[in-house]
Amino acid sequence: MANVIIVGAQWGDEGKGKVVDIYTEHAQNVVRYQGGNNAGHTLVVGDEKTVLHLIPSGILHQGKRCIIGNGVVLDPKVFLEEIDGLKKKGYLQDDSQLMVDGAVNIIMPYHKLIDIARERKSGAKKIGTTGRGIGPTYEDKVGRRGIRFADLLKPETFKHKVNEVLPEKNFYLEKFLGEEPLSAEAIIEEYLGYADRLRGYLGRASTCLDVAMKDGENILFEGAQGSLLDVDHGTYPYVTSSSTIAAGACTGSGVGPHCIDEVIGISKAYVTRVGEGPFPTELEDEMGERLRAAGNEFGATTGRPRRTGWLDIVALREAVRTNGLTGIALTKTDVLNDLETIKVCTAYRYREQLIEEFPQDLDILKECTPVYEEIPGWQCDINSITEYATLPQKVRDYVDRIEAWTGCPVVLVSVGPRRSETIIRTNPF
Ligand code: GDP
Ligand code: IMO
Ligand code: MG
Repeated sequence: MANVIIVGAQWGDEGKGKVVDIYTEHAQNVVRYQGGNNAGHTLVVGDEKTVLHLIPSGILHQGKRCIIGNGVVLDPKVFLEEIDGLKKKGYLQDDSQLMVDGAVNIIMPYHKLIDIARERKSGAKKIGTTGRGIGPTYEDKVGRRGIRFADLLKPETFKHKVNEVLPEKNFYLEKFLGEEPLSAEAIIEEYLGYADRLRGYLGRASTCLDVAMKDGENILFEGAQGSLLDVDHGTYPYVTSSSTIAAGACTGSGVGPHCIDEVIGISKAYVTRVGEGPFPTELEDEMGERLRAAGNEFGATTGRPRRTGWLDIVALREAVRTNGLTGIALTKTDVLNDLETIKVCTAYRYREQLIEEFPQDLDILKECTPVYEEIPGWQCDINSITEYATLPQKVRDYVDRIEAWTGCPVVLVSVGPRRSETIIRTNPF
């Protein structure tokens, strides 16, 4: 029996969805524990592509329990649309497969409006958020004025809460952000319209997972975003508003840390980032464009082109430490197929100093320039390879170097977007 956490080891979009879909074979329960529909997790089965924003990436497997833990923030409209999309494709035929914790905070219309208006007002200082209302919803959660999933299911409680909070929101929207005020009646009508369909999904993640563990079942925890977007450990303030690191799995679902057996960090064989913020190995040249084209690096949620750059070992070591990674899943290795030379950043230069630890101070990080080692490329197609031993020696050398630099084993190598394009070296379950 093993309980495994999957986390993004970079700035998101590392291929978490794909790895969760693959590992689901070995787990009975898959849990999202933080973030909301800022996430876009892509699964490719055969020729069919599915992008999930809220529902755990285990949902394409029949009979697996998919849980949205208390740490998630949920937009009910997006959630119901995602359910409909899955049902139309023939998935999620049994509603008992899906559960939402009652303590999940609800993304309200004013959260989305504040998110977008604030970004607009910030101009050049914007974060580059997904505009889905994530930050403002977490602010209200921590500020103890959030509206939870269970509240939405009780019409009187919901009405009362909306009426209580809206004057403050409208004051801020009108007076500070210069937006039109929102109507309580319209919000109540829209959201209570969702409530009947949502009721059947209400549950409690913590107790459900406790029973599952006592029954000897496995749990797969699905992180969203990435370690460098963590609100505490990421490149603050250019981060998301939740605990994206492995520890978030415990608070975001109500299980104790001793229940966790393995923590697998997903890392691309290079790096991408969407939105603003420092990115030391960013390539703003032809090579960056080449990686974007080869990796089809356009956001699964907003469609924005992703910024691209070489693999950053300094940043990856940070993820190994903050998450306590027991393994790395290396994805999009095939994207490097054509390159003669691959560069890897193993340290930063800051003024006259050589730095091997990711700086916490953004003013220092902004001034860091990467120190690169060059690795010969393999210059052949590796997408159809299914055995580690038959990968070209140069690919295995790249993997060996990553293990040596990070001190963490590479347990999976992904060589294409499809389920079948995956080489498992060590199974964490
Ligand atoms: P997530 O947010 O971490 O789940 O990642 P995204 O789905 O946002 O972005 C990863 C993208 O890369 C998706 O389009 C995947 O289909 C694709 N992908 C995942 N693994 C691989 C791989 O090994 N090779 C290639 N070429 N594409 C991959
Ligand atoms: P997945 O789960 C990549 C980024 C945004 C922005 C910052 C804050 O698919 O890896 P937010 O809307 O969360 O307040 O935006 O975080 N961001 C992501 N980048 N992948 C994601 O999710 C992201 N979710 C948020 O681009 O820089
Ligand atoms: Mg994504």
